[in-house]
Amino acid sequence: MREQSPSKIGIVISGASGSLLALQALRILKALTNKNPTLSSHLIITQGARRTAELELNASQRVELTALADHIYDDNNLTATFASGSNPLSGLLVVPCSIRSLSAIAYSQTDRLSIRAADVMLKERRPLVLAVRETPFHAGHLQAMQLITQMGGIIAPPVPAFYLAPKSIDELAEQSAARLLALLGLDMGNWLKQWQPPSSD
Ligand SMILES: Cc1cc2nc3c(=O)[nH]c(=O)nc-3n(C[C@H](O)[C@H](O)[C@H](O)COP(=O)(O)O)c2cc1C
Repeated sequence: MREQSPSKIGIVISGASGSLLALQALRILKALTNKNPTLSSHLIITQGARRTAELELNASQRVELTALADHIYDDNNLTATFASGSNPLSGLLVVPCSIRSLSAIAYSQTDRLSIRAADVMLKERRPLVLAVRETPFHAGHLQAMQLITQMGGIIAPPVPAFYLAPKSIDELAEQSAARLLALLGLDMGNWLKQWQPPSSD
């Protein structure tokens, strides 16, 4: 069951393509935490994500990526509070989520903080959202996604909502990120654009 007002929100950035999605999610989360002091953000960047970010973001975006969260953790630090089910995060978003991270979560290969934190979400029945980014999928990818869905996780590939007519890649990534954060049960205020039929309909 989801909490009424989530407080400790975790973001894992893994090494799939889509560092901009993570940056936009962190920008939105920063705005939400500024508005609501009971909310805090907790960030893990995997080694794979650091490499992908080098290739996909410019230098100032990379600095911003590491500066937006309230707390940042080394992926090898298995002593972080939320590595224990006794002190879990309120919700965790993996964005983008690589097939490696997806598979490790599906089979509880919890030798890194990012995977352990996700496993704790599943075992404690708390919101876990995976923005899986790969295409096309083979049967093993789909089986891992099915397993996580059966365990209560949400598989949410970052497929753009083109009907909202985004005017730039930044806007497209921002809307995708807002939808992913909304799946954690956060109050998104004006961040979430909603479909409105044309006035003639
Ligand atoms: C530029 C670049 C793009 C990548 N894109 C993807 C992707 O979209 N999906 C994916 O599953 N892996 C992708 N990878 C491979 C992952 O980074 C790699 O499997 C890594 O080991 C993932 O580890 P992590 O899950 O710990 O971050 C990409 C790698 C690079 C360098």
